[in-house]
Amino acid sequence: MQNSRVHQKYNCVLERNRIDLTNKKLVLFGTGQMSKILKIIPAYYVDNNEPKWGKSFKKRMINSPQALKAEAKDKIFIIIASQFYQEIALQLSEMGFAVGEHFFDGKQLFEKELEKRYLYKFRCSIRRFYRKFLLKYKQKYQRYRLKSGPWLIFPPKMGGLSYFKRVSLLRKFKLITKKVPCPHTQDEIITFVDAILRIPPEEEGCIVEAGSYKGGSTSKFSLAAKIAGWELYIFDSFAGLPDNSEPHEKSILGHSIKGWFRKGKYCGSLEEVKNNIAKHGEIGVCHFIKGWFEETMSLFNKRIAAAYLDVDLASSTKTCLKYLYPILVPGGVIISQDGDFPLVIEVYNDDQFWEEEVGCKKPYIEGLGERKLIKIVKR
Ligand SMILES: C[S@@+](CC[C@H](N)C(=O)[O-])C[C@H]1O[C@@H](n2cnc3c(N)ncnc32)[C@H](O)[C@@H]1O
Repeated sequence: MQNSRVHQKYNCVLERNRIDLTNKKLVLFGTGQMSKILKIIPAYYVDNNEPKWGKSFKKRMINSPQALKAEAKDKIFIIIASQFYQEIALQLSEMGFAVGEHFFDGKQLFEKELEKRYLYKFRCSIRRFYRKFLLKYKQKYQRYRLKSGPWLIFPPKMGGLSYFKRVSLLRKFKLITKKVPCPHTQDEIITFVDAILRIPPEEEGCIVEAGSYKGGSTSKFSLAAKIAGWELYIFDSFAGLPDNSEPHEKSILGHSIKGWFRKGKYCGSLEEVKNNIAKHGEIGVCHFIKGWFEETMSLFNKRIAAAYLDVDLASSTKTCLKYLYPILVPGGVIISQDGDFPLVIEVYNDDQFWEEEVGCKKPYIEGLGERKLIKIVKR
């Protein structure tokens, strides 16, 4: 039974040396490192080291070499598991044992075992390395997903754009966010990009952005405008927010906005904005209208298919609605990123303002008082 196990384990070595252990008593000569490592359970061990005699090794007795003399030579096989093979082989020959027939150098079996051990260790270290690598990769990937949102993996529909075009656009958006200060989320931008890409091509009009800061949002919108074949008009003072005394306190999302909208905040010069768009967006579709909204928007007379407002102040929102809503085409959209500021919500909710200053009934405003991004579709 034991011998058949040895045959199974070291089959190729035993066959190469034409050794048959069937019906033979197996004895291991030597009780050092080699015997320790070999996966063989002999009938007993033999060792030249006298103090070891009579003791047990791997649950088997260690005998003196003299014990071999009492064995029937054709019923025994000795594996020399020692680095002193030559000396032991000579010793066994003197006792009448023949190499190959009665004994054999266990070094080959030992090497086989070592090979297996090294392979095992090597595999373990590779596994450990991969586990470490996968963990790192997983963490990085998760951080990346958290940072970029799930869009790069499952990009939203965005008009009729193909999957690859959407992914490529989102990659560009991510790069812009990295390079240009962007006080918006990709979600907000994607919502307006989707609106741009859904405008029927036969519609007359242009795209408007009010409030561009350093040109981050403008670069992103310009890429979408280029794809859809629209011109993009950008209104901004290019000197930051105007002087104001609006008492902003707390956003509906719960955070304080006290003192946020000081004069000159979010200042990006026209040159800076143009440079950023030239680097990351589509400068060819952009038209810049510099100045305070009250002065510039009142002169604007192009039809608008979609407008994006990110102007922070209630007064600026009023000006935008007053001048832009009347020239919005039916079916056109206005999206505002300031729907979380109570003073801005008041403007949108003010029936009198709509009737007296904009010249129409207050339209339905999607998400008003509930979320940051609000939307009006002109009926
Ligand atoms: C929050 S920033 C816009 C951020 C930009 N949309 C982005 O995401 O990168 C607000 C911008 O609105 C402009 N702004 C606000 N009120 C204005 C007004 N009455 N006239 C001209 N520009 C105004 C400021 O100059 C500023 O650039």
